[in-house]
Amino acid sequence: MAKKIIRFGVIGCGLMGKEFASAAARWLHLTNVDFEPRIVAVCDAVPAATAWFEENVPSVEKAYTDYKLLLADPTIEAIYCAVPHNLHEQIYVDIIEAGKHLLGEKPFGIDQNANQMVQAAIIKHPEVIVRCSSEFPFYPGAQQLIQWVQENKFGKIIEVEAGFWHSSDLDPTKAINWKRRIATNGEYGCMGDLGMHVLHLPMRFGWKPKSVRALLSKIVPERPDNQGNMVPCETWDNAILACDVDTGEQSFPMVLSTKRIAPGNANTWFIKIQGTKLSAEFTTKNPKQVASLPYTPGGVQAWHVADAPYKSAYQTITGGIFEFGFSDSILQMWAAFCDELVHGAEMQQNFHCATPEEAAGSHLVFTAALESNRTGNTTQINWRD
Ligand SMILES: NC(=O)c1ccc[n+]([C@@H]2O[C@H](COP(=O)([O-])OP(=O)(O)OC[C@H]3O[C@@H](n4cnc5c(N)ncnc54)[C@H](O)[C@@H]3O)[C@@H](O)[C@H]2O)c1
Repeated sequence: MAKKIIRFGVIGCGLMGKEFASAAARWLHLTNVDFEPRIVAVCDAVPAATAWFEENVPSVEKAYTDYKLLLADPTIEAIYCAVPHNLHEQIYVDIIEAGKHLLGEKPFGIDQNANQMVQAAIIKHPEVIVRCSSEFPFYPGAQQLIQWVQENKFGKIIEVEAGFWHSSDLDPTKAINWKRRIATNGEYGCMGDLGMHVLHLPMRFGWKPKSVRALLSKIVPERPDNQGNMVPCETWDNAILACDVDTGEQSFPMVLSTKRIAPGNANTWFIKIQGTKLSAEFTTKNPKQVASLPYTPGGVQAWHVADAPYKSAYQTITGGIFEFGFSDSILQMWAAFCDELVHGAEMQQNFHCATPEEAAGSHLVFTAALESNRTGNTTQINWRD
């Protein structure tokens, strides 16, 4: 199949920049796609980071330390940007104003003001496709729950719980980095870092919280820097948000949690939906399985746990008997972004990447959560602004 090659620039060549390079290098894993990303230029403030790309990604033609030089290349159509949160506003706005499509990392601005500046640039440039990175909904188990929500299988929703939990920060000797400083990660702390992943599906389903009561915790107050000095660890480690959802058709409680210190959990993303006709749960802790409990009045209440085969949004060479993992979810998200760049609304499948509006919704929730934690009250969320 002839493929449309999309010439990409990568700005920010750290952890996530490399994940994209790995997904692009594994494009042959996908079958039946008529598009392919090609990373032709990279930019990082630290030359050692771009050197990795020059050594490992043969398609790279140019490496820059100034992203504006990369944006000046008219042959580059699209950008993946994965930089610290304090840089999102300026760099995303410049990318959009340069007329390049953008898959930007969350949280899409360090705070709500920054996010609004990005939104304003998007409104001025409707010709540019902008999406926010969020890969976990591409797990086959999550895709199954999405299908059940779209098919209205749950009946009246009783409650929803969604979370994203890490645990490596339990170690007090773990060194500080930009993600634990307010100047670079933002006041949102763990919510800015992990929260878009948790809110992606609720936003997609139209489950907008009307109000939030937040409990934010700082558990480890200082950490060693790279000289071994103890320095303040400023950001919120854990957040629990009790939300009151009103969809217009039904209302229900939704508990969202983002945790940097959840003992025993390494990259655990989950969603649990309880309804009067069906309850279902998926967690990346158990990435092969989906649990569901169908119910008819008077019937047995029994959980069914089924291995979810490798059944992804985009078909791959992997057989259905194998299992799906984190790097597969990144590959699938990239396929969805490239599919949308090439086919617009006529994508091969209908689950598109998180939108800027969904990211803006997450900022409304995090900003209200900060106020709720500060005042000790429930904060109302105004979705009309
Ligand atoms: N989708 C996910 O699962 C996921 C996972 C981790 C991080 N993230 C997000 O990705 C983004 C980056 O996080 P990371 O973990 O890759 O961080 P990282 O620290 O590993 O990489 C960030 C890179 O940006 C570079 N950089 C800093 N200033 C720059 C500038 N002015 N111009 C160009 N490059 C510059 C740094 O040198 C570094 O190499 C953040 O928004 C973060 O929230 C997403």
